[in-house]
Amino acid sequence: MRWPTPGARLGYGADYNPEQWPREVWREDVRLMREAGVNIVSLGIFSWAHLQPTADSWEFGWLDEVMDLLHEHGVAVDLATATASPPPWLTTAHPEILPVTRTGETLWPGARQHWRPTSPIFREHALRLVTALAERYADHPALTAWHIGNELGCHNIYDYSDDAAAAFRAWLRGRYETLDALNHAWGTAFWSQRYSDWAQPLPPRLAASHPNPTQQLDFKRFSSDALKEYLRAEREVLRRLTPDVPVTTNFMVMGETKGMNYADWAGEVDFVSNDHYVHPGPQGLDELSFSANLVGNLAGGRPWFLMEHSTSAVNWQPVNRAKRRGELARDSLLHLAHGADAVCFFQWRQSAAGAEKYHSAMVPHAGEDSAVFRAVAELGRVLRDDLAPVAGAGRRPARAAILFDWESWWASEQDSHPTELLRYRQEALDWYSAFLGLGVRVDVVPTGTALDGYDVVVAPVLHVLPAELAKELTGFVEAGGHLVTTYFSGIVDENEHAWLGGYPGPLRELLGIRVEEFGPLLADEAVELDDGTTGTLWTDEITVTDPEAVEVLAAYRTGPQAGRPAVTRRRVPGGGSASYVSTRLGARGLPGVLGRVLAGAGVSGELPAAARGEVELTIRHQNGVEYWFLINRTDHEVELPDVTGEPLTGSLPLAPRGVTVLRR
Ligand code: GLA
Ligand code: GLA
Repeated sequence: MRWPTPGARLGYGADYNPEQWPREVWREDVRLMREAGVNIVSLGIFSWAHLQPTADSWEFGWLDEVMDLLHEHGVAVDLATATASPPPWLTTAHPEILPVTRTGETLWPGARQHWRPTSPIFREHALRLVTALAERYADHPALTAWHIGNELGCHNIYDYSDDAAAAFRAWLRGRYETLDALNHAWGTAFWSQRYSDWAQPLPPRLAASHPNPTQQLDFKRFSSDALKEYLRAEREVLRRLTPDVPVTTNFMVMGETKGMNYADWAGEVDFVSNDHYVHPGPQGLDELSFSANLVGNLAGGRPWFLMEHSTSAVNWQPVNRAKRRGELARDSLLHLAHGADAVCFFQWRQSAAGAEKYHSAMVPHAGEDSAVFRAVAELGRVLRDDLAPVAGAGRRPARAAILFDWESWWASEQDSHPTELLRYRQEALDWYSAFLGLGVRVDVVPTGTALDGYDVVVAPVLHVLPAELAKELTGFVEAGGHLVTTYFSGIVDENEHAWLGGYPGPLRELLGIRVEEFGPLLADEAVELDDGTTGTLWTDEITVTDPEAVEVLAAYRTGPQAGRPAVTRRRVPGGGSASYVSTRLGARGLPGVLGRVLAGAGVSGELPAAARGEVELTIRHQNGVEYWFLINRTDHEVELPDVTGEPLTGSLPLAPRGVTVLRR
């Protein structure tokens, strides 16, 4: 990993869009940046039309001026390649770069990101721009990092155009080599879909009925790969012209954004950066923590860059709530707690015009005389003065992990399934909330992560289970690890072919159970368990096949499986165990089961029992020093009587929504 800001300091800043403002405002901007402690901005993200007003003319003068001005004021630049929004002259000359939806509609210009990831024409123009920028600013002292495009795939991940079809076919040839292999993988004996020529396969465009599921899954894999390919194309230009400048692109590990397989992308950038926006609701804060945790692990435990979040309201939710006092700092520090070494916002100055004028910023419409700007400046001071020692510190791994699998996310939510109510990420988040509720640290890790350092691994809805992964999980348990998995896991292999002989396929023996039929519940149905919890969404009819070793941790009290096992655990020679949860217990119901698994594994929280659940603990460390981040998840003060350490920021007891960082 190569980090942009030289020296040990935390980054603080925003997207900066000076082209929206007259020059006199730029002077005001740098004065206020200094006041707020801003030391880095992302510049030029949507500047293409300003940099290249026509196909044959360039205007770099204004950007030179802004780069110089920022440098004079001690602000480093994460310079965008400016390719996120192609200018009108380009789409007018080449409407064939515009993406096409599944139903054949064109996504027209007028917003942003209206380009096909596989368009050769778009790529040619975009790389010309990237080359021009890299040549011009290679030696500019403000340049500290490159920011490829912006949120690749935010609006254009799925393109069904003819360009996409051609690229998809090339991708399929690379994956399968022969038509026989493709026909086998896609199961084309079904519904007369057998392909006899490579010219025939298509993206899963609007069809008369459910498109082939493996075609759908492969199109998701392809679409993620195609954008990754595009990312690489820009990156190669930058590496050639500016080999010493680190390259990133802002991921969107948040909410239901799922098209890009970031576990697969993380190795493509010099440092991982992420954008995150809080979704209001009872699990909003847990979701922030979950996302930051996953990003920290995508970054391999090393520091990462929070490229965007919001100081207050966004403009794209149905109702856009302003943040309450304290939330700006708490949300920022929660990212830091999970390994971020930079805290940045969208955007520096709130726009007066355009689609995002109701989106908050570091400098709001109200100006510097505002609660938001005062909170921004105070946070800048905390990052610069109080928390400087944290810069560069890595994450201290937890003893438990939640396995997060993009392919299971994609496949488990496809159509023509037992239920369309299942939400993969929500299930993973519910387990995460259960860990938070019990006050036990956990790492959210992508599949592929080595599991041998963990005592407990929870793999919720591990729907796609290739034989290799099943072997790895079995090995983990046989070596003494404790595995938990759930309903709708181990159902298909990597080709979306069902495992035969009973579910959950290759984990049956390990779990000592067998399921013959799927048991989805209607949206308003619920089943009660004998431990007092309530299950929704699903209820499996479990047959215990290894009664010697399997104990029933909870049984159904009501519903179609009344009297039968709901949660099972098989003890495996060597001290490990394999547990199965056959219904959706949700964030409220899971702590009971999880508590028993953790107790069996000898894993407990590091905080005093009374504070567990109210306070989230994360640990970063470097040079033999630990930094304990204590985040108050509640709106009341929390005592932490036995916790010691030197407070770098905040204090004990923890203020409502407060964060205290202890050096130990
Ligand atoms: C994304 C984009 C930004 C802006 C914000 C608004 O993160 O990258 O340009 O649109 O959303 O929340
Ligand atoms: C119809 C079709 C069958 C099958 C069933 C599934 O009856 O004729 O091919 O798709 O629906 O319910």
